[in-house]
Amino acid sequence: MEHMYKDVQIKPVCESDAYFLHLLMNDPPVLQRLNEVPTQQQNWIDAINEWSCDDDEEDYLIFDGNTRIGWLGVNGLLGEDKAAYLKMAVLLPNYQGHGFGTFAIRELMRRLKHRGFEKIVLYTDSDNDQAQACYQKCGFRVVESLVETMSNGMAVSRFKMEACLL
Ligand SMILES: CC(C)(COP(=O)(O)OP(=O)(O)OC[C@H]1O[C@@H](n2cnc3c(N)ncnc32)[C@H](O)[C@@H]1OP(=O)(O)O)[C@@H](O)C(=O)NCCC(=O)NCCS
Repeated sequence: MEHMYKDVQIKPVCESDAYFLHLLMNDPPVLQRLNEVPTQQQNWIDAINEWSCDDDEEDYLIFDGNTRIGWLGVNGLLGEDKAAYLKMAVLLPNYQGHGFGTFAIRELMRRLKHRGFEKIVLYTDSDNDQAQACYQKCGFRVVESLVETMSNGMAVSRFKMEACLL
């Protein structure tokens, strides 16, 4: 269901976002869904510093009005193949399933297309039906099945998905 009064924006991550990223990425359902391990706030301060020096990567916070609700990360931006890689798409649980993810990813895709990117690629768990429904609405299609070992050590069945930006 689309959110009725959408005021969604994506804004480049800045230093003051470490606290939010720490909260988001230690939320138990988020950790479990992403097969991630718990982190400290300092990890996010360090990550934001690293991202700011890395021209291959851009990270955005998703806002609903003035409220931080999620994170989008994209990399592969320096590749010669004009393909970007969506490395992260995640919302706080209360904001999932209301159209925010579709809206934010479409906005990111619009910006990448405008900059000359031709394709966007991502990997997702094959049992992550909610994420796949969102990605399909954004134009992604499954192009490959594979098994990947995740941060928490689990071997997980995954899909590679791609969307054409042309
Ligand atoms: C993936 C994610 C960013 C998508 O954003 P979102 O705002 O929840 O997605 P949307 O609401 O735009 O679209 C999700 C769609 O899935 C549908 N959906 C929800 N639960 C579902 C389920 N169990 N099975 C199938 N579809 C489902 C929703 O109804 C919606 O479709 P609709 O708009 O046609 O009704 C968000 O769900 C999230 O943060 N999930 C947890 C982290 C995660 O899995 N990230 C992806 C890693 S690859």
